[in-house]
Amino acid sequence: MGVPLFDTSTPVYGLRGELRGAVERVLDSERYILGPEVSAFEDEFAEYCGARHAVGVANGTDAITIALRAMGVGPGDEVVVPSFTFYASAEAIPPTGATPVFCDIDPETYCVTAETVKAAITPKTKAVIAVHLFGNVAPVAEIEALGVPVLEDAAQAAGSTSAAGRPGALGKTAAFSFFPSKNLGCFGDGGMITTSDEQIAERARTLRFHGSRDKVTYEQVGYNSRLDELQAAILRVQLPHLDTWADGRRAAGAHYEQAGLGELAKLPRPTDGSEPAWHLYVVGHPQVERLEEALTDAEIGHKAYYRAPIHRQAAMREWGEGVELPGTEEAARTHLAIPMSPVLTQEQAEEVVAVARSAI
Ligand SMILES: Cc1ncc(COP(=O)(O)O)c(C=O)c1O
Repeated sequence: MGVPLFDTSTPVYGLRGELRGAVERVLDSERYILGPEVSAFEDEFAEYCGARHAVGVANGTDAITIALRAMGVGPGDEVVVPSFTFYASAEAIPPTGATPVFCDIDPETYCVTAETVKAAITPKTKAVIAVHLFGNVAPVAEIEALGVPVLEDAAQAAGSTSAAGRPGALGKTAAFSFFPSKNLGCFGDGGMITTSDEQIAERARTLRFHGSRDKVTYEQVGYNSRLDELQAAILRVQLPHLDTWADGRRAAGAHYEQAGLGELAKLPRPTDGSEPAWHLYVVGHPQVERLEEALTDAEIGHKAYYRAPIHRQAAMREWGEGVELPGTEEAARTHLAIPMSPVLTQEQAEEVVAVARSAI
C-alpha cells in the first residue's frame, strides 16, 4: 500500500452535496464576479482570522503584490523576504517596483526570526514578508518590534494558531492562497488579503479592480485580480470544517512522533506558542537522498520542494548574487516533505516510518 503525499479529495468527499448546492446557488444568482458570495466569504474569513477586513483576489501571488502596494511599497523600497519558501513569496515583490532582499531562516522551524530579519534590514526597508512556512507560524510581533511592518505570507498556514492569534491577524497585512492543495483550497485559483487597517483594505479593494473605486474613473494602474463567486461559494462550504481539518493535520504529526520518526530524522519544530496546521510535513536528514530512494521504492509520496532556494534561482540573480544564508542552505540540502493530510492515519504513518527506518 502506497501513501500519497497529500489527499485533497477524502476530506471534501462528504461535502459533495453541499458543494453542488453552492455551485447551483451561483448559477441561479447569475452573479459571477464580485457579488454576494465573495462579500459573504470575505466577512466570514476575516472573522475566522480575527482581522477587520478581507479582500478576495485571484490568487496568493497577487495577494502579496497587491497587499504590498496597499501598504505603500513602491520603486526605491526594499522588502525583506526569506529565500527558503515558495518562489512566489519573492516573485511578488518586483512588480511593485521594490527590490527583494533575501534573509535567512531558522532551519529548525523553517521560519524567519527577528535576528535573521534584522540582518537584512536597511534604511530602505519598507516591509518584511514573514512566511508561515509549512503551516508553522513566524514570530511576527518580534519582527514588527524592529520597527518595520510585516506582511504575513499565510498561503500555507490557514488553520494554524499562535499565542498571539491566528495567521491573518498578526501583521499589518496577510496574504492567503486557496490553491486546491492548500489547507483551505478552492477548485481553481483564489487568494485573500486580510488586514485590520481600513485604508490598506480600501486601497487593496481599489487595486484589485483596475485601480478604480467606481468602475468609471481610474486612480492608479491596478490589476484585474478578483476571487470569483463560484470559488467563494465553494470556500464558504469548506471554511466551517477548517478547524477539524487542522486538528487532523496536527494528529497526523502526532502519529509520526508516536511511530518514532523523531529517532530517525529531524522533525519540524513548532515556533514558540504556535500550533501549526501542518500544510507540508517536512523532515530533515543529512543523507536525505537515502530516504528519498527508499520512499520512491515503497511508492510513498515525498518531495523536496525547495532544493534550490530562491536567491539562487536564475530569475533572481540580480538580487540573489553573493547572498550567503547558511540556515537556508542547510534546510535546502536536507529537507524532505513526507505524506501529510487531515486524514492521514496512524497505520499510514507507521508504514512511512517503517520505510524510513530501513533507509536511515
Ligand atoms: C508560501 C507561498 N506563498 C505564495 C504562494 C502563491 O499562491 P498562489 O499559487 O495562489 O499564487 C504559495 C502557493 O502557491 C505559497 O506556498
